[in-house]
Amino acid sequence: MPLLSLSTDAVIEHCRNLQDCADGRKTLFIASFPKSGTTWMQAIVYNLLSNGNQDFGHISEYSPFFEIVHTWELDGGTSEGKVREKYEQNHQQIGWRVFNTHLRWEMMPKQPNMRYIYVVRNGKDVALSFFQHLSNQDDADCFNGDLLDFVTKWCKGETPFGNWIHHLQSWVRAYRQLGGDGTIHGDGAQSHNPILLLRYEDLVRDPLSCVLKIIAHLDLAISPERAEELLQYVSFPYMKANQQQYMPISVPWKEGYSFLRKGTVGDSGNYFGEEHNAVYDAMVQGMFAMEGGVPQWLLELGVL
Ligand code: A3P
Repeated sequence: MPLLSLSTDAVIEHCRNLQDCADGRKTLFIASFPKSGTTWMQAIVYNLLSNGNQDFGHISEYSPFFEIVHTWELDGGTSEGKVREKYEQNHQQIGWRVFNTHLRWEMMPKQPNMRYIYVVRNGKDVALSFFQHLSNQDDADCFNGDLLDFVTKWCKGETPFGNWIHHLQSWVRAYRQLGGDGTIHGDGAQSHNPILLLRYEDLVRDPLSCVLKIIAHLDLAISPERAEELLQYVSFPYMKANQQQYMPISVPWKEGYSFLRKGTVGDSGNYFGEEHNAVYDAMVQGMFAMEGGVPQWLLELGVL
């Protein structure tokens, strides 16, 4: 899977090998394919864990990007596999270790005290948002081409984090194997699925219901009334007005780019023409041509 130039093989290895906290605190991974609403979920989780404390510099101080070099202590070029101390301190403050990640399930650490939220979003909206993002990133990962070039490369899995459907497949398979939302296992015992699956579109339509699911997933003692109050801090207009707290600082940006771009469902309809749709549809159909068509799990996800 192609990664950003901010990752190294050593760091990916440390990610896979991360252990539970010795003091019993839990770890949460906010996982997604890029541009599926990761930052929004980071903001939601932070507000729940901090009871809406707006006195922070940048969201990444509380949920750093898991697989980039900057998140890890480096010692003379040799990484010790230790998360930077400044994050440790912030995590102590909110009582959880939280990271955001675009790694696939296979690359993730799995320990008893680890929880995961996987956010999915309509593929065309993801591709459009990723195109806007990478075209405005002012470094080695910058994309220089038009939307059709991008969609073509994205469909082939040649852009960072590879093919979108492979990413979904990796996480959704694990989610289903671990109990789906029924959380009933073969022996009839009820247990907590460590993965919560949420759709960006549902977050836009009914944020409170989604936030209540997150509260239940993390076993937090937050009333529905308080949860509703906290929503003010994660609305699109609020976050956009405070964009400096959310725009990724790990990369430089071209002048004028707004990371909190539109925050809507279906914006790809304003940009995708026949050619873009044809490339996208061919990717979806082509991937499952040998299996007799698009599988049920993917249709049920409702993000094609
Ligand atoms: P658009 O480019 O379509 O506007 P990620 O954080 O995974 O990179 O995802 C970024 C996308 O999430 C962007 O989509 C951004 O605008 C959207 N987003 C961020 N905060 C949001 C919010 N509070 N409400 C709705 N969408 C939000």
